[in-house]
Amino acid sequence: MALTMNIVILAAGQGKRMRSDLPKVLHPLAGKPMLAHVLDTARALHAAKICVVVGHGGEQVRAALAAPDLAWAIQEPQLGTGHAVLQALPQFDADAETAVAVPMHDAETAVAVPRAPTLILYGDVPLIQAATLRRLIEAAGEDKLALLTAQLDDPHGYGRIVREGNANEGKVTRIVEEKDADDAERLIREVNTGILVAPGAALARWLPQLGNRNAQGEYYLTDIVALAVAEGMPVVTAHPDAPWETEGINGKAQLAALERVHQRNSAAALLSAGVTLADPARIDVRGELLCGRDVFIDVNCVFEGRVVLGDGVRINANCVIQDAVVGAGSIIGPFARLRPGTRLAEDVHVGNFVEVKNSTIGTHSKANHLAYIGDATIGSRVNVGAGTITCNYDGANKHRTVIEDDVFIGSDTQLVAPVTVGRGATLGAGTTLTSDAPPDQLTVSRPKQISVTGWKRPVKQKKA
Ligand code: UD1
Ligand code: CA
Repeated sequence: MALTMNIVILAAGQGKRMRSDLPKVLHPLAGKPMLAHVLDTARALHAAKICVVVGHGGEQVRAALAAPDLAWAIQEPQLGTGHAVLQALPQFDADAETAVAVPMHDAETAVAVPRAPTLILYGDVPLIQAATLRRLIEAAGEDKLALLTAQLDDPHGYGRIVREGNANEGKVTRIVEEKDADDAERLIREVNTGILVAPGAALARWLPQLGNRNAQGEYYLTDIVALAVAEGMPVVTAHPDAPWETEGINGKAQLAALERVHQRNSAAALLSAGVTLADPARIDVRGELLCGRDVFIDVNCVFEGRVVLGDGVRINANCVIQDAVVGAGSIIGPFARLRPGTRLAEDVHVGNFVEVKNSTIGTHSKANHLAYIGDATIGSRVNVGAGTITCNYDGANKHRTVIEDDVFIGSDTQLVAPVTVGRGATLGAGTTLTSDAPPDQLTVSRPKQISVTGWKRPVKQKKA
């Protein structure tokens, strides 16, 4: 983007309706804080600087998302959206020649603000898309006020875009908030999404002039529209590609609704990349899922963190896979759990009720039923029998299990780590392995089987 630009993200609202101790903007959507989605989108726009305005729970928000490319402003008390944006302006680097001085409401001295366009975003409007914002920024240029507006069937609760004459084509004259609107204005279906771009210099002029609008002493950002019109600055509009882009989150119902939108979008992206999904409505991706060609994913699978599935991988129903790499042609599940640090080579089978953590498994190896494989290095062509457990934790420390190529582990075996099973070894079923098993031999730890002749099953005694 040729234009330099600054971004303000408002995130000071308390979020009472979440009914939670966690600050609203830290509530996760697809596994990461809703504010982090806005930050990712903001970063994609290559702004000169991004400033997040926090208030309630601000320290917690900052601790969770601090990064070298972010500036933070504290808004305390929260006196409305206009007041919130004003708190951010001093965070932007203004070079002496082009700076504009802003008198702050509560400071003696004025602060220098850059002239460059400033984009206003919201920490609780997480699904706004970069393509929409690029159109808005384009529409604003360097000297216009650009509003992102939307046509809603039910505009209730939103600020309405008031235009001259013809409702949809006339010049924008002001924004009227729902509670201040008259009956005719309430019929307007074009609403203010709150997202806008304004020249920094203009914000510096306007924000300190905003009037105190209500009993709560709020300053409305939306009042800058009338100020722009009064100055003769053009006010232009752009519109989101999809209605969900500008939906905000106030409570858990809206959070759940936008989670579904996000998951639908991510499923659609997988489908168009050629992944086969048994049901696009029954997959949850909470992070990054990278798939090769001809991957099949059955219903009710959850992917977390960064998961890589090679060509031809099949994920059967009800699997949970986190930070794992699955090699080409492998078959996982149903009901398998791959935890962080799992690396499977090609053609590995991990079946039902098998948990793998921080382990590598070599080509053509199989663990098909009921097993725990933790902190293990398993070679190629290994068969891990049903009920095999790596005892990797002694109550204080974790230890590794090494299983070399071509090993056969009998069912119901415990491998008490640290322990190594040599190449080609066989462990008899029920073995509790406490020291290394030599290669190519049968190792079995099992009391000798006996049969007692003349033994009689107890019979129930008759009550006297
Ligand atoms: C605002 C707009 C309204 C628009 C609607 C879209 C104003 C005056 N009105 O109304 O035209 O249709 O958004 O959702 O701007 N915030 C702060 N500090 C504050 C107040 C708010 O950071 O002091 C943040 C909130 O965390 C929230 C956002 O600004 O993310 C919007 O605030 P909210 O109080 O929800 O504004 P609305 O009344 O919805
Ligand atoms: Ca709101």
